[in-house]
Amino acid sequence: MGAYEKAYKESIDNPEKFWAEAATKVHWYHQWDKVLDIVNGHYRWFVGGCMNTCYNALDLHVENGRADQLALIYDSPVTDTVKKFTYRELRDRVAKTASVLVSKGVVKGDRVVIYMPMIPEAVIAMLACARIGAIHSVVFGGFAAHELATRIEDAKPRVVMSASCGIEGSRVIHYKPLLDEAIKQSSHKPTSCMIYQRPQARCNMLPWRDVDWAEAEEAASPVDCVPVDAIDPLYILYTSGTTGKPKGVIRSNGGHSVAMKWSMDNIYDVKPGDVYWAASDVGWVVGHSYIVYAPLMHGCTTILYEGKPVKTPNPGAFWRVVQDHKVNVLFAAPTAFRAIKKEDPKGEWIKKYDISSLKNVYVAGERCDTDTLHWVQDITQRKVIDHWWQTETGWAICANPMGLEELPFKPGSPTKPSPGFNVQVLDAEGKPGKPGELGNIVIKLPLPPSCLMGIWENDTRYKKSYLEHYPGYYLTGDSGYIDKDGYVWVMGRMDGVINVAGHRLSTGGMEEVVSKHPDVAECAVIGVEDQLKGELPMGFVVLRDGIVRDEEGLVAGVVQLVREEIGPVAAFKLCVVVKRLPKTRSGKILRGTMKSVADGTEWKMPATIDEPEIMDEIKEAVKKLGYPKTK
Ligand code: COA
Ligand code: AMP
Repeated sequence: MGAYEKAYKESIDNPEKFWAEAATKVHWYHQWDKVLDIVNGHYRWFVGGCMNTCYNALDLHVENGRADQLALIYDSPVTDTVKKFTYRELRDRVAKTASVLVSKGVVKGDRVVIYMPMIPEAVIAMLACARIGAIHSVVFGGFAAHELATRIEDAKPRVVMSASCGIEGSRVIHYKPLLDEAIKQSSHKPTSCMIYQRPQARCNMLPWRDVDWAEAEEAASPVDCVPVDAIDPLYILYTSGTTGKPKGVIRSNGGHSVAMKWSMDNIYDVKPGDVYWAASDVGWVVGHSYIVYAPLMHGCTTILYEGKPVKTPNPGAFWRVVQDHKVNVLFAAPTAFRAIKKEDPKGEWIKKYDISSLKNVYVAGERCDTDTLHWVQDITQRKVIDHWWQTETGWAICANPMGLEELPFKPGSPTKPSPGFNVQVLDAEGKPGKPGELGNIVIKLPLPPSCLMGIWENDTRYKKSYLEHYPGYYLTGDSGYIDKDGYVWVMGRMDGVINVAGHRLSTGGMEEVVSKHPDVAECAVIGVEDQLKGELPMGFVVLRDGIVRDEEGLVAGVVQLVREEIGPVAAFKLCVVVKRLPKTRSGKILRGTMKSVADGTEWKMPATIDEPEIMDEIKEAVKKLGYPKTK
């Protein structure tokens, strides 16, 4: 039996023993009393254990000989800046920022919303919350005021931490007006906002609410780590579901730390002192786990990159960063490599840089097409490890565990389930599929450490979304199959969730916004295939009776509405007016069939369709938008 098979078997046969052993790599003030406790559908790891995530990420290394090693390198081509922080420097800044939070009344269990661009203060903010046991909730900077307001309303933060602006390529995005607008829209008001003034665009401050972060930090005295329970939440991260209301995934301190440490050794095969770069954003789960927590807990140097794979300033940007900071592991979304490939198909730019430090490349966030995978492999001459995970799990459900045992690669599959994840495929009735048979991918309970503890203040939704479809199993929301060799193949979402440039978005959420337009009677939003971004949303709108409008003006209004309410990250630009939507006799919109028409994949007229001739109108409508694309 190979090392992987042995570990996997142990993790499934005796999860308590397996994870208790893994937990010895984490620093505990007090060991747990019970490894796993199950109460009313909630899985609690390391109950009774007492620890601090920030202590594990910073202080522990300062005390154990890594004080002068680099913890964080901030590389920002958009501001032409590189800043480096040792573990001691980062610990000191975090301890002072935490002190400012304490002075604003933040105590253990309070929520703090973080709405930040990719600057060191974003990492400092997260760790400062962890230091004092406050629960952070990071909101991605590409979301507009309304989305931010929804999260403020739900998380009810005492403090919001933000910055005056972000920089997208050559554009300055003013964050502060978005924050002010969000707070105006929310019925919950934070008592203070800590604002980091960036020189590229300073903002106005409200003297009764806003605090100049740098000034307050300068004047603060450092505070120590507050011991928290292993099952105390470390953070809430909102993610898209089938409706417009995002789900606040709760992650605990203890289980998360254990899984982060385990994954660094066994999946990423990195050692303390290595340089780890996740080219993601702190607003996403990849950023939480692999820009901030895992590399720091493991004593690595992490890279925070404020730039894009292309145009900042060229498609050699990634390779320049690898060379300059001697990156050992690079982790990015396939869409980032597709963007590089589009501009530099022959891989000329990589030849200009010395990437000899690079050991492996990891991809996740969306399905990785084999063309892109092979292209990255060819130009880097490195192994490309596709691994599958979700906000809800916080780490890879399936991966080639490079540190444990390198398994044979099958391009297109994220390999086999990680230890702890009992992955199965069930059909609609709950019967296990035969090898190769497509179905719902589920995980037999219990989920391993780090997976969601629940949905913030919405237990009903937690159970309904994940646990009630198949009693005893967690529903991933992805479809796929397991082949005869036990490799998992993830084919796509079963729900209305789409993946646009590695960003998880809800088509249901977009439909809610589009329906708010005064001229729109009803609408449908589907995800269509896109060569660069993987998927793009496409909207179909039906006008209210009696409304006569020029289509161009109407579409521009709808597009603007989505941009204002959800944010530019939705990339909602494809929209068309139709007379009616295709529906079943019971009134369900046939989104799946519409998608097949737009993608140009084979489709059959559904037997349940109410008026078959509508499909001709849909064909005409997608043609107007230039779909299906010729492949
Ligand atoms: N703050 C403000 N606006 C943001 C933003 C942020 N943090 N991130 C993105 N946006 C804006 C962009 O400027 C763009 O606006 P525009 O419509 O005015 O041009 C819009 O949101 C869409 O952004 P994006 O999807 O990033 O497209 P892009 O064309 O700017 O770049 C890629 C395309 C492929 C280069 C880019 O999407 C990319 O690097 N993707 C990787 C994503 C990733 O790492 N995901 C993490 C999952 S692991
Ligand atoms: P998020 O919660 O934003 O990380 O998005 C999770 C979703 O992205 C998953 O449910 C999948 O649909 C998709 N996804 C992530 N990684 C992969 C992968 N390696 N292969 C296929 N789909 C993926």
